[in-house]
Amino acid sequence: MFEGNVVRISRDVYWIGVKDWNRRLFDALIPLPRGTSYNAYLVSGEEGNALIDTVNPGFEEELERKIRSLVDPGEIDYIVMNHAEPDHAGAIPYLMKIATKAKLVATSRGVKMARIFYRVPEERMKIVTDQEKLSLGGKTLRFIEAPMLHWPETMFTYVEEEGILFSCDFFGSHLAEGVYSDDVEDLLIHAQKYWGEIMMPFRTMAQKGLEKLKGLDVKTIAPSHGPIHRKPEVILNAYKRWVYGETKQKVSIIYVSMWGSTEHMAEQMAEVLAREGIEVVLHNLTVTDVGDLVKDLVDSRAIVLGVPAVLGGAHPLIVYATYLFRILRPPTEFTVVLSSYGWSGGAIRQIQELLRDFKIEVVSTVEINGPPMEEDMRKIVEIGKSLASRIKRSEGF
Ligand code: FEO
Repeated sequence: MFEGNVVRISRDVYWIGVKDWNRRLFDALIPLPRGTSYNAYLVSGEEGNALIDTVNPGFEEELERKIRSLVDPGEIDYIVMNHAEPDHAGAIPYLMKIATKAKLVATSRGVKMARIFYRVPEERMKIVTDQEKLSLGGKTLRFIEAPMLHWPETMFTYVEEEGILFSCDFFGSHLAEGVYSDDVEDLLIHAQKYWGEIMMPFRTMAQKGLEKLKGLDVKTIAPSHGPIHRKPEVILNAYKRWVYGETKQKVSIIYVSMWGSTEHMAEQMAEVLAREGIEVVLHNLTVTDVGDLVKDLVDSRAIVLGVPAVLGGAHPLIVYATYLFRILRPPTEFTVVLSSYGWSGGAIRQIQELLRDFKIEVVSTVEINGPPMEEDMRKIVEIGKSLASRIKRSEGF
């Protein structure tokens, strides 16, 4: 039900967030092909009101209008900061001015960040601990610490009477469209992309986060980006696969090619893997969308890196992709590295150096001088069959 561009998601609980339809980049890194949203919520009890998170800087006045359509900002008792990153907390200085009696509620780490980032004075902050409750009168907020999901200070907020979990970045997706997840046909694709970009490096902490939710009667998951999940089992089941690193019999081939030699090898590898019944995706780094690549890393059991040599080392685009792979820490088990060089090799050694300390088995490497000959392609076919066999023998966890 729409009421002045706010959405009533439950009894006395409203979505009052904003849509950033035109944003195309996040963290100067992540493509946003379909924009994003910054979801804030208002919970009204018989004795008090709480604002759950705020919005990205630049949207303060829109948030204020939405609040005023429901309550006077002076009637807000608490501003809950689940996470200190500016896309959710950037409007806190503005809100603290108009919500004159509100206290900022955060974890002890969150309070330190609010002091540094947003200059919130000590007397207007309230520290909460894991599982602490705060009553608004008929609405009880329970705070659940969720460190590293996405920053060290992050927490979830759960409304006990309504079964609503405000999960901040966790379970989110960068999408401007849709109020509810069932409004968006390909929601899980976006959620998988978001998981890979934002949460995948913190899989161990995500496992702990999921554990903490056991025993809660979660009826609705209301994240801080993208649509609200009113059938939470759909996103929870997907998260169980991603959080525990379940992969498919799937290979992401990631390559760049200057004169076609590396591409020729990459495509030959794709052919043989597909014939062996393996799902294959090819990402040519000169044209691929980084978000699509990361989405495929989430459930690929292996990667094949196509690495041309340039100026005495690996091509900078594949160095970038390999570095990204390392810091995102996908659950990939196997890799093959294919390289072609004109007059100076060594690109494979550079890639292996980048992957040092990363738990991944290098099944094989191929380094050729110039365009691949028939015997090189035969070798790639054999390596592809061997890789397919390793993938099929693995259980994918
Ligand atoms: Fe959406 Fe980590 O902020």
